[in-house]
Amino acid sequence: MARLVRFGVSIDRDLLKQFDKLIARRRYVNRSEAIRDLLREKLAGLELRRSAAKAVGAVTIVYNHHAAHELSHRLTDLQHDYADLIRSSVHVHLTREDCLEVIVVGGPTHRIVEFSDSLIGTKGVRHGRLSLTVPR
Ligand code: NI
Repeated sequence: MARLVRFGVSIDRDLLKQFDKLIARRRYVNRSEAIRDLLREKLAGLELRRSAAKAVGAVTIVYNHHAAHELSHRLTDLQHDYADLIRSSVHVHLTREDCLEVIVVGGPTHRIVEFSDSLIGTKGVRHGRLSLTVPR
Protein backbone atom coordinates (compact mmCIF):
# COMPACT_ATOMS: atom_id res chain seq x y z
CA MET A 1 0.00 0.00 0.00
CA ALA A 2 1.27 3.46 -0.87
CA ARG A 3 2.44 5.63 2.02
CA LEU A 4 -0.36 7.74 3.38
CA VAL A 5 0.14 11.42 4.11
CA ARG A 6 -2.20 13.54 6.21
CA PHE A 7 -2.95 17.11 5.31
CA GLY A 8 -5.39 19.72 6.57
CA VAL A 9 -7.94 21.39 4.35
CA SER A 10 -9.76 24.64 5.02
CA ILE A 11 -13.16 24.66 3.44
CA ASP A 12 -16.27 26.78 3.43
CA ARG A 13 -18.90 25.37 5.83
CA ASP A 14 -21.64 25.23 3.17
CA LEU A 15 -19.36 23.55 0.68
CA LEU A 16 -18.45 20.97 3.29
CA LYS A 17 -22.14 20.36 3.96
CA GLN A 18 -22.70 19.71 0.26
CA PHE A 19 -19.64 17.49 0.16
CA ASP A 20 -20.97 15.41 3.06
CA LYS A 21 -24.28 14.99 1.23
CA LEU A 22 -22.37 13.76 -1.82
CA ILE A 23 -20.46 11.34 0.41
CA ALA A 24 -23.73 9.98 1.75
CA ARG A 25 -25.31 9.70 -1.70
CA ARG A 26 -22.33 7.88 -3.19
CA ARG A 27 -21.90 5.78 -0.05
CA TYR A 28 -18.28 6.63 0.59
CA VAL A 29 -17.05 5.24 3.90
CA ASN A 30 -15.45 8.57 4.87
CA ARG A 31 -14.27 11.95 3.60
CA SER A 32 -10.74 10.71 2.92
CA GLU A 33 -11.98 8.00 0.59
CA ALA A 34 -14.24 10.48 -1.18
CA ILE A 35 -11.41 13.01 -1.64
CA ARG A 36 -9.06 10.31 -2.97
CA ASP A 37 -11.70 9.15 -5.43
CA LEU A 38 -12.53 12.66 -6.65
CA LEU A 39 -8.84 13.47 -7.05
CA ARG A 40 -8.23 10.32 -9.09
CA GLU A 41 -11.28 11.08 -11.23
CA LYS A 42 -10.07 14.64 -11.84
CA LEU A 43 -6.50 13.57 -12.62
CA ALA A 44 -7.68 10.85 -15.02
CA GLY A 45 -9.82 13.45 -16.77
CA LEU A 46 -6.86 15.82 -17.13
CA GLU A 47 -4.70 12.97 -18.44
CA LEU A 48 -7.38 12.05 -21.00
CA ARG A 49 -7.44 15.64 -22.27
CA ARG A 50 -3.81 15.33 -23.40
CA SER A 51 -4.21 11.95 -25.01
CA ALA A 52 -3.77 11.33 -28.74
CA ALA A 53 -6.21 8.42 -28.51
CA LYS A 54 -9.39 8.65 -30.56
CA ALA A 55 -12.48 9.93 -28.85
CA VAL A 56 -15.96 11.04 -29.81
CA GLY A 57 -18.07 13.60 -28.11
CA ALA A 58 -20.21 16.68 -28.23
CA VAL A 59 -19.46 20.30 -27.55
CA THR A 60 -22.48 22.26 -26.37
CA ILE A 61 -22.40 26.04 -26.35
CA VAL A 62 -24.94 28.72 -25.54
CA TYR A 63 -24.43 32.28 -26.69
CA ASN A 64 -26.25 35.46 -27.44
CA HIS A 65 -25.77 36.17 -31.12
CA HIS A 66 -26.39 39.87 -30.48
CA ALA A 67 -23.80 40.10 -27.69
CA ALA A 68 -20.70 40.57 -29.79
CA HIS A 69 -20.80 41.61 -33.38
CA GLU A 70 -18.18 39.16 -34.57
CA LEU A 71 -19.17 36.24 -32.35
CA SER A 72 -21.16 34.19 -34.89
CA HIS A 73 -18.41 34.65 -37.50
CA ARG A 74 -15.72 33.69 -34.99
CA LEU A 75 -17.59 30.52 -34.01
CA THR A 76 -18.10 29.57 -37.66
CA ASP A 77 -14.43 30.26 -38.46
CA LEU A 78 -13.36 27.99 -35.62
CA GLN A 79 -15.58 25.21 -36.89
CA HIS A 80 -14.03 25.53 -40.34
CA ASP A 81 -10.54 25.43 -38.79
CA TYR A 82 -11.39 22.10 -37.17
CA ALA A 83 -13.65 20.77 -39.93
CA ASP A 84 -11.82 17.41 -39.94
CA LEU A 85 -13.12 16.73 -36.42
CA ILE A 86 -16.73 17.70 -36.94
CA ARG A 87 -19.26 15.00 -37.75
CA SER A 88 -22.43 17.01 -37.35
CA SER A 89 -23.86 20.06 -35.68
CA VAL A 90 -27.23 21.38 -34.62
CA HIS A 91 -28.12 25.02 -34.16
CA VAL A 92 -31.22 25.84 -32.16
CA HIS A 93 -32.56 29.39 -31.86
CA LEU A 94 -33.60 29.32 -28.20
CA THR A 95 -35.02 32.81 -27.95
CA ARG A 96 -34.85 35.95 -30.06
CA GLU A 97 -31.24 36.39 -28.98
CA ASP A 98 -29.94 33.13 -27.54
CA CYS A 99 -28.56 30.27 -29.57
CA LEU A 100 -27.69 26.74 -28.57
CA GLU A 101 -25.24 24.76 -30.64
CA VAL A 102 -24.30 21.12 -30.28
CA ILE A 103 -21.28 20.08 -32.31
CA VAL A 104 -20.60 16.37 -32.59
CA VAL A 105 -16.89 15.63 -32.88
CA GLY A 106 -14.55 12.71 -33.39
CA GLY A 107 -10.76 12.47 -33.56
CA PRO A 108 -7.63 12.68 -31.41
CA THR A 109 -8.66 13.67 -27.90
CA HIS A 110 -6.17 16.50 -27.51
CA ARG A 111 -7.42 18.14 -30.73
CA ILE A 112 -11.05 17.82 -29.65
CA VAL A 113 -10.11 19.48 -26.35
CA GLU A 114 -8.22 22.24 -28.19
CA PHE A 115 -11.25 22.89 -30.40
CA SER A 116 -13.66 22.77 -27.48
CA ASP A 117 -11.52 25.10 -25.32
CA SER A 118 -11.31 27.57 -28.22
CA LEU A 119 -15.08 27.55 -28.72
CA ILE A 120 -15.97 27.75 -25.04
CA GLY A 121 -13.28 30.36 -24.40
CA THR A 122 -14.55 32.65 -27.14
CA LYS A 123 -15.70 35.94 -25.67
CA GLY A 124 -19.49 36.00 -25.63
CA VAL A 125 -20.02 32.26 -25.18
CA ARG A 126 -22.06 32.14 -21.99
CA HIS A 127 -22.03 28.44 -21.32
CA GLY A 128 -20.02 25.60 -22.75
CA ARG A 129 -19.44 21.97 -22.04
CA LEU A 130 -17.52 19.14 -23.64
CA SER A 131 -18.75 15.62 -23.20
CA LEU A 132 -16.22 12.99 -24.27
CA THR A 133 -16.38 9.27 -24.63
CA VAL A 134 -14.36 6.50 -26.20
CA PRO A 135 -15.55 5.03 -29.52
CA ARG A 136 -16.14 1.29 -29.63
NI1 NI B 1 -29.60 31.10 -33.46
